[in-house]
This record gives sequence, C-alpha cells and structure tokens, in this order.
Amino acid sequence: MSMKISNQNPKSQSVLITGANRGLGFGFLTHYLKQGNTVIATCRNSDITVFDSLIKDYPNQLLIENLELTSEQSILNFAQKIKENKVTFDLVINNAGISIEENFGNWTAATFETNFKVNTIGPALLIQAISPFLKQGSKLVQMSSGLGAIALNINPEGPYDAYAVSKASLNILTKRIATKFYTQQIIVVAINPGWVQTDMGGAEATSTIDEAIKNMTSTINVLSLKNTGTFISDTGELLPW
Ligand SMILES: NC(=O)c1ccc[n+]([C@@H]2O[C@H](COP(=O)([O-])OP(=O)(O)OC[C@H]3O[C@@H](n4cnc5c(N)ncnc54)[C@H](OP(=O)(O)O)[C@@H]3O)[C@@H](O)[C@H]2O)c1
Repeated sequence: MSMKISNQNPKSQSVLITGANRGLGFGFLTHYLKQGNTVIATCRNSDITVFDSLIKDYPNQLLIENLELTSEQSILNFAQKIKENKVTFDLVINNAGISIEENFGNWTAATFETNFKVNTIGPALLIQAISPFLKQGSKLVQMSSGLGAIALNINPEGPYDAYAVSKASLNILTKRIATKFYTQQIIVVAINPGWVQTDMGGAEATSTIDEAIKNMTSTINVLSLKNTGTFISDTGELLPW
C-alpha cells in the first residue's frame, strides 16, 4: 500500500495525516496536497480507491500507508516504512479517532477500552515511534474535542463519557509531549475542530468539513513556539483544559 514520492516543489512541506480516508482527515489531505505539499496519508483499510482521484491529480506528492492505531505492531511497521522512505515531517496531524457512545447504565469496559486505545494510546505510541523523524521546529497537532475539556464539561448527560475520558487523556498527553519536545522547538497543540459534519459529527453538526479545514489550517499555519502546550479552537482561541 505504498508508493514512492518525488515532490519537486522547493517550498513543499512534509505532512503526516492519520485517518486520511474520510471526514476531517480527508479534508486535511486534500488541502495540503492542493497547497503543493507532500502528504503521508494513513488509513487502516486496504481498499484505497477513495484516494484514486488524488493519486491521479498529485502523483508525486502522496504516500499512502497502512496504520491501525490499536495495533502496536502496525505502528512500528509504519515507523519502519517512514525510515525506509527517508521521510521527515514538518507537520503531523494525529487526526484518526473513534467515538463509541454508551449511556450511563449501559457502560461496558469494551467501549471505554476501544475509545481509549484509538484516541489516546494509539496517538501516544505513534508519537513515540515517529519522534526520530520530526524535524526541529515541526508542528504536532492532536485532534481533541471540547468534550475532553474538564473545565467545560459539555453535555454530561449524553452518551459520550468514554469518548470524553479518552480525549481528556489525549489533552494531558499533549501537554506532557509539548514539554518533552520543547528543546527541539517542536510545537505541540490540542485542537478542537468544532462540531463538524462528518460520519462522527453527523448531519446536524454546525460546521462543514470545508469550513473546519479552512479554519484549522489557517490556525496551524501561524502556530509558533509560544503556542506549544495549549488547547485551542479551530480558529485559534485558547480553550480551558
Ligand atoms: N466531527 C466532529 O464533530 C468532531 C468533533 C470533535 C473532535 N473530532 C475529532 O476529529 C477527528 C476526526 O474526526 P472525524 O469527524 O473526521 O471522524 P470520522 O469521519 O469518523 O473519521 C475517523 C477516521 O479515523 C479513522 N480511525 C478510526 N479508528 C481507527 C483505528 N483504530 N486506527 C486507525 N484509524 C482509525 C477512521 O478510519 P476508518 O474509515 O477505517 O474507520 C477514519 O479515517 C477525530 O479524532 C475526532 O475525535 C471530531
């Protein structure tokens, strides 16, 4: 599931996007390819026909790799591929995520575990595995959620408990990673995309994918080291943890 890339654009940045086959991930992918960047797009499905038109339009800019975030072996295999392809990253978007909903009264360990594996443990182990390939001054963006903010405690009656717990954990992971990477001037933030019309967000959501991607990519573009270790909205406002 991989191909060689040979982007000749001197201003090209190298961008990693997880969960790039649909939703916000696919929106980020399309945006960064259109801007002339090289994108390493990951998905967990071997059916990559979803990428066909992008491969046709951007044949020298797109590398597609398999990544299943619940598998440590898959994460290690991915890091090995990155090493073999001699790729280093200017921007990493830890986008892939899952939201399994369950109302209080019907909680199961399996639901808490799956949300936590995909939304917290997977990103943690991925960051560790690819850390040798992060450029000095690169950016690491963690797709969090307002539901993960303890200070906001959004919709506590809803069935989002396991998801909220996993994103709150992703938030403290973000803060800790920001400190570890500070000397390399790597900027690490958690971002809340807003409520977006994807499979996860549903049709009732308030933002389109295009709006959310426009806002988030503009925000990411102007991030500097003074923003590291913060939780921000799609438009770059500081959010409480
Ligand atoms: N949409 C919203 O309103 C909203 C709000 C707040 C935060 N977010 C966050 O934004 C991010 C993107 O959300 P979205 O709305 O675009 O979701 P989505 O449409 O449901 O897409 C989720 C993506 O994550 C991938 N994924 C799920 N489980 C995975 C696993 N075990 N290993 C690897 N990849 C996996 C999916 O791959 P498959 O196609 O193989 O399932 C898919 O590519 C998520 O982290 C989400 O929590 C979204």
